[in-house]
Amino acid sequence: MDKKVKKKVLQQVPYGAYIVGTRMEDGEDHLMFGTWLMQTSFKPTLVAFAFKDDSRTLANVRRSKAFAVSFLPEGMGELAEHVLDGSFEKVKAERTPSGLPVLSDGAGWIECRMLDTLDPGDHRIVLAEVVDAGPGKGKPLLLDALGWHYAG
Ligand SMILES: Cc1cc2nc3c(=O)[nH]c(=O)nc-3n(C[C@H](O)[C@H](O)[C@H](O)COP(=O)(O)O)c2cc1C
Repeated sequence: MDKKVKKKVLQQVPYGAYIVGTRMEDGEDHLMFGTWLMQTSFKPTLVAFAFKDDSRTLANVRRSKAFAVSFLPEGMGELAEHVLDGSFEKVKAERTPSGLPVLSDGAGWIECRMLDTLDPGDHRIVLAEVVDAGPGKGKPLLLDALGWHYAG
């Protein structure tokens, strides 16, 4: 296989731009920028998110069985950078009714309850049921619009 071709082709998969909110063991809010989300079932409403095996977010999800996904809107790409920098104080956030952090000015959010994990690979697939959702404003931002790739 030509690895350059593989990378180029895989980078054509369209991805969104999300902020994943979880709770640390000490109760602190935690935010992560991520992109590997997809819906996998209508009834029940299921999604899969692939989390890096050594991420704090995956550890939080495994422990609490819960995470929230906020959809970044167009024009708010700088929030992705703040989250990647760990500058959470620069990100305006609020809480879902169950207490998970979500963007105040996002394009909407879902709250997910972990059902299962698939463990091969350097990212672990978390299969989760969508248990709550909140509205937002604006069009969702696509990863391509940020000029970033996370594939290949
Ligand atoms: C463009 C881009 C997309 C990313 N997508 C994901 C993703 O889908 N899943 C993931 O686990 N990490 C993803 N990351 C990496 C995490 O943001 C990064 O590993 C983070 O430091 C993990 O955070 P945590 O350990 O605080 O949970 C992405 C990073 C970038 C720059």
